[in-house]
Amino acid sequence: MTQTPLFPQDAEQEIQSLRDQINEHNHRYYALDDPEITDSAYDRLMNRLKALEAEHPELITSESPTQRVGAAPLAAFGQIRHERPMLSLDNAFNEEDLNDFDRKVRERLGNADSIEYACEPKLDGIAVSLLYENGRLIRGATRGDGTTGENITLNVRTIPSIPLQLAGNDWPARLEVRGEIFMPKAGFEKLNVRAKARDEKVFVNPRNAAAGSLRQLDSKVTAKRPLDMYCYSAGIVEGDTLPAKHADTLERFKDWGLRINPELRVVQGAKACIEYFARMSEKRAGLPYEIDGIVFKVNELALQDRLGFVARAPRWAIAHKFPAQEEMTILKDVEFQVGRTGAITPVARLQPVFVGGVTVSNATLHNMDEVARLGLKIGDTVVVHRAGDVIPKVVRAVESKRPADARDIQLPDTCPVCDSEVERDEGEAAARCTGGLYCSAQRKEAIKHFTARKAVDVDGLGDKLVDQFVEKGLVNTLSDLYKLSADQVAGMERMGKKSAINLINALEISKKTTLDRFIYGLGIREVGEATAQSLVSYYQELDAIKAATTEELLDVDDVGPIVAAHIETFFRQPHNLEIIDELLAVGIHWDKVDIAESAGEQPLAGEIWVLTGSMHSMTRDEGKAILQQLGAKVTGSVSAKTNALLAGEKAGSKLTKAQKLGVRVVTEDEFTELRTEWGI
Ligand code: IVH
Repeated sequence: MTQTPLFPQDAEQEIQSLRDQINEHNHRYYALDDPEITDSAYDRLMNRLKALEAEHPELITSESPTQRVGAAPLAAFGQIRHERPMLSLDNAFNEEDLNDFDRKVRERLGNADSIEYACEPKLDGIAVSLLYENGRLIRGATRGDGTTGENITLNVRTIPSIPLQLAGNDWPARLEVRGEIFMPKAGFEKLNVRAKARDEKVFVNPRNAAAGSLRQLDSKVTAKRPLDMYCYSAGIVEGDTLPAKHADTLERFKDWGLRINPELRVVQGAKACIEYFARMSEKRAGLPYEIDGIVFKVNELALQDRLGFVARAPRWAIAHKFPAQEEMTILKDVEFQVGRTGAITPVARLQPVFVGGVTVSNATLHNMDEVARLGLKIGDTVVVHRAGDVIPKVVRAVESKRPADARDIQLPDTCPVCDSEVERDEGEAAARCTGGLYCSAQRKEAIKHFTARKAVDVDGLGDKLVDQFVEKGLVNTLSDLYKLSADQVAGMERMGKKSAINLINALEISKKTTLDRFIYGLGIREVGEATAQSLVSYYQELDAIKAATTEELLDVDDVGPIVAAHIETFFRQPHNLEIIDELLAVGIHWDKVDIAESAGEQPLAGEIWVLTGSMHSMTRDEGKAILQQLGAKVTGSVSAKTNALLAGEKAGSKLTKAQKLGVRVVTEDEFTELRTEWGI
């Protein structure tokens, strides 16, 4: 669309037509939630209109949909006196309050049977008034104190869902529409992500963000903020009348392009109100905007008039509030918990506080990075947030309320459960206990790992059985496993005499292992099978590995500074050493690794092999074991350093890569032949 009309009257016509089209699409999109064209088609109309208006600035009017970008900054907001005061609502905090409200309404109306109520979410935003004269938006104002508010016309004009011109032509000549301006949750999140990236102040919640955005003297700033509005009542109505019922009035608003909350429902009686409240409580977390309760309004305007007002609130409406999702309390202490994998987690001990419908006295702080991010100190007043079923969270400290004796939160040097050293890797948020074998918090995991197939391999020892042994106090340390009697095992759930005997036998068999399986089974952080094998090839003996320093360990293949430090720390813990001694004492043993003797039998010594695809004559683990026995190191991915790829059927990307790099490819048949040659 780049054509330019030849005559100004053509331009005028096209401009008018574009504005009508755009207004109609806005109406469909915002008020009816039923768009008819794509965003890009809409953008094309808008761009065409902008281009024409640029050529013919004399044709620009303030209702043109292009005129939403904001105007020159103001020095201050003007004051607006509301012709009809903007009231507030009484609150109900429970069913009883709501039933009381309903009873009073019925009594006042001469014991009416059941009242028709309009139910709407109570939006957590900013109350505003919009004044339309002859369908044109001429003024926007905040509620202020209810009598006088601020003139925010320039700001509300930038909000895309607020029509500058009402649709249709059957609106009252003077119509004041009231409602709530809010920031949808998604827009709020995005705004804060951007603010964080620019090191700017973040908003604490969508309500504050909406208020801050609306109170900008520079409406160009407001224009960039994702604001929206739902209309919930009429103020001044002159020149025509509105329907006799509140909900019908809102439906009329919709015809005129004003947005109303799609959750609006009309129900009969208090019981149905309570049901609506329950339904919305469930829906609340999934709504794209924040609400803090439900407003129930007597639907018939004639009845509203009969009921009238008390003080500053109508007798015909009530706000049933949800329990607050944020409350302040005191951070009394921080304790450290040890998870089953050794991660040490700071947990806030709070002065109990009722928030989000439950009493909260603890909240996880996740890790020390989070503690630093929140800038917490013990003794602080903190804001606790709990929404829906989400776990409670400490969201910030109120620094202005910090007592003089507030204490820093410090990660302990030793594990609060077993007193082993605590490690914290650079760049890692979690701190960990290094007493993996000893720490009772990690006992179950340690046993499961040590007895796994790739470690000493105790056949038939499932996770559930390990859990029972630990929970019943039969196994406190690894070596206790080997002291179990068949009777004790048979006493476990779903265990018969026969399976108990089988397990005792399996334990006996597992005592003969290899040094690398044993090392792997100890569960040293980041020491997998390959590292365990490298350690064994290098040191050959357990005592040498135990004595190795971080620096020496760096000479071992595959071992970098982080793993080296983990290994050294592990073997520095007296408790870990005790457990190793106990295991040896109950009979765990392995054949001495004698490199000199086996050297002649290791035709693949020094080579790096990779396995891929499926094989018939052996499993992948067996293939791996054979290769290792032949002296090869087995790794998981093909690189230029790989000497050969043992490829079974359906080999995929590894085969392609090997071919590309010119790595030798050995088929299963070829490998079988080679094995005969090597006598293995
Ligand atoms: S009706 C006379 N409906 O709640 C009745 N108010 O304490 C006037 N609010 O500041 C209000 N959602 O901004 C009504 N669906 C809704 C509402 C709502 C939020 C706000 C309103 C007012 C406050 C009342």
